[in-house]
Amino acid sequence: MGRVSGKVALITGAASGIGRGAAIALAAEGAKVVVTDVDEAGLKETADLIRKAGGTASTHKQDVTNEGRWQEIVAAIKSEFGALHILVNNAGIAIGASVFEMSHADWSRQQAINVDGVFFGVKHGIPLIAASGGGSVVNISSVAGLQGAPGLAGYCATKGAVRLFTKAVALECAQAQMNVRVNSVHPGIIDTAIWQKMTPGGTASVASSVLPIADGANAIDPNAIAVATPLGYAGLPSDIAAGIVFLASDESRYMTGTELVIDGGMTAR
Ligand SMILES: NC(=O)c1ccc[n+]([C@@H]2O[C@H](COP(=O)([O-])OP(=O)(O)OC[C@H]3O[C@@H](n4cnc5c(N)ncnc54)[C@H](O)[C@@H]3O)[C@@H](O)[C@H]2O)c1
Repeated sequence: MGRVSGKVALITGAASGIGRGAAIALAAEGAKVVVTDVDEAGLKETADLIRKAGGTASTHKQDVTNEGRWQEIVAAIKSEFGALHILVNNAGIAIGASVFEMSHADWSRQQAINVDGVFFGVKHGIPLIAASGGGSVVNISSVAGLQGAPGLAGYCATKGAVRLFTKAVALECAQAQMNVRVNSVHPGIIDTAIWQKMTPGGTASVASSVLPIADGANAIDPNAIAVATPLGYAGLPSDIAAGIVFLASDESRYMTGTELVIDGGMTAR
């Protein structure tokens, strides 16, 4: 018997990295998973990995900034599975840039994906979770939602928003006795494609001066990670997936509105 057997889980941004890791781990623990992303090829790979391991996965192309698409996907889950119990709002981007150089377009795009996307997920996903008897929402924030970082002000603004939005929604759900728990997860440096995507064009030099990215290499510099992280190495998507499965399962039934930090000790000092 898996830890989330019989549950239906929706994971956004599941074509890559932490979202893929969470989808694989939830499916391995018995959930039927619905994976969504803008990246259809990556999504297919995630679903293939789950099916090869004997799990159940269905895919939907989704841009989390599109509210109408959220409504379509929640309706599709209702008709295909009849219920939703777990929602992992994971899709996100990171734009590394000094606040003095950041364009309003980049600021707004990052807000739209990282914050509006979570708002739409909560707004349209939770009613179906409540109607299914209850469940768990896991919003992916960051250590950048707990501490400031120069060169990441725009990203910190989005992840700080996710942290407090999560707590307020948790209280609303508790007050309405919806039997829906809502928590945030705060990863440290995790080895995913987000780091390679973070330094396009002119932002690379700013980003590399404040982030553990090797100068010009567009990859995480192991020496810089060792300095930033007490455990001395980057985490894996499976390290975050372990926390997501715990929050998604009934093992965490008495936890809501809290923040689970998985960061190799980064925020301990
Ligand atoms: N990797 C880290 O070190 C780290 C640290 C802290 C927090 N996080 C957070 O974890 C989450 C997952 O990041 P990751 O590291 O796995 O990165 P990733 O780039 O590997 O995965 C992010 C996924 O989100 C998808 N995505 C981007 N824009 C989208 C949109 N508009 N609609 C739907 N999907 C979209 C991408 O296609 C990609 O598949 C993000 O919210 C990120 O901010 C990552």
